[in-house]
Amino acid sequence: MSDRPACDFLLTGAGELVTVASAAPDLGVLTGAALAARDGRIIWIGDESRVTSEVKTDDDTTVVDAGGLAVLPGFVDAHTHAVFAGDRSEEYAARLRGASYLEIMAGGGGIAETVRATRAASPDELAALARRRFSSFLRHGTTTIETKTGYGLSLAAERVCLEAAQIEHPLRRVHTLLSAHAVPPEFSGRADAYVDLVCDEILPALAGGAEFCDVFCDEGAFTVEQARRVLTRAHQLGLGLKIHAEQLARTGGAQLAAELGCVSADHLERATADDCRALAAAGVSAVLLPGTSYTLRMPYAPARALLDAGAEIALATDFNPGSSYCENLQMAISLACQQGGLTPDEALRAATLGGAAAIGRRADLGSLEVGKACDLIILETESHRELPYHYGVNRVAAAVIGGRLVMHEGDVLEDDQEGHEHSGHVHDHEHGEDCGCGEHEAAT
Ligand code: NIG
Ligand code: FE
Repeated sequence: MSDRPACDFLLTGAGELVTVASAAPDLGVLTGAALAARDGRIIWIGDESRVTSEVKTDDDTTVVDAGGLAVLPGFVDAHTHAVFAGDRSEEYAARLRGASYLEIMAGGGGIAETVRATRAASPDELAALARRRFSSFLRHGTTTIETKTGYGLSLAAERVCLEAAQIEHPLRRVHTLLSAHAVPPEFSGRADAYVDLVCDEILPALAGGAEFCDVFCDEGAFTVEQARRVLTRAHQLGLGLKIHAEQLARTGGAQLAAELGCVSADHLERATADDCRALAAAGVSAVLLPGTSYTLRMPYAPARALLDAGAEIALATDFNPGSSYCENLQMAISLACQQGGLTPDEALRAATLGGAAAIGRRADLGSLEVGKACDLIILETESHRELPYHYGVNRVAAAVIGGRLVMHEGDVLEDDQEGHEHSGHVHDHEHGEDCGCGEHEAAT
């Protein structure tokens, strides 16, 4: 039995293990299964009765007992704008009184308002705001976010935003440069000159700290030709490509995404059937952001047409201070089902494996499979089916990232946890200590 692989993390007691490791529409739900990991990666998934004979644990193994609750891959939120300062609740109220998002933007509000507040904030303030938001994502079951710059809009301010997004925190992050988010006030009326600055200075200086480049290609933002310039330059610099496309108006961003081979095209509320086919044919992930449609009271993206065309879809929050101020992907799952035309299983897949694909991490994240990162969440309920159905509340009890328990009942455990004594169903036992809960047998 000495050839049993040793694990440093063991999950037992899952009421169901939703692996998302099977062909759609099936979610690969296992019952009676346990999962073992080593050095942050899953090394074994099998029937819990076989744990002792098939994996080796020792005093350093962290054992988490899910207590009969449902276990899922951590959510992968593939589209967020997490670094900004300021408050736009006034704008929100003005929109509900009838002002449109585009009118507010044209009047110098909207994104420009957040740019003013972000530029006025200190690096420490921005980092503190980011940290608080990262913890909130984690509390709601998101274990990876993609996060964009885009409220600095100068080299110096974009750098500060990127660095704020890179602070130490257990939440996994993938970084995107959205320096072409809006034309900053000092370039007013000179959008092409700002695009020059983005291509010649901002992207070359910051590309080393990011993985993707994004551009807001829309009415009131950048044209398809400007977006093409930005993304072509980004590709030369080795960045993967993303695009905000067809949100406020259909301008041709989706076709550009297909032409340039973007990793994802995001929004797509105004995308046509032809756009859906082009994205599918080019293998571009479609990132759906139903929170934005909800907040702006605009149409939802054509999720069914995208799926029927064979496109890969992801569900994300679009967390930002204007069009979707929500870090809870469970809410996006619910909206996608209620308003966006997805089934619960389609929405869960899009919020996990779909999200991973949209950030180029399909091989690593988004499902529970041997070889992938050990990023998982434990719900407060026995069944994943409760997620879109029991809505408006947080149903996530605990989160594990890289084989470490990093959130438990709302507490974000940032450093090497000493207090591993947790009440409730989830027990984290380190160093073989016995917490007296009587639910564990020393597996050796
Ligand atoms: O994805 N569409 C552009 N950017 C954001 C909104 C940004 C803002 O309003 O601050 C979005 O919806
Ligand atoms: Fe966005």
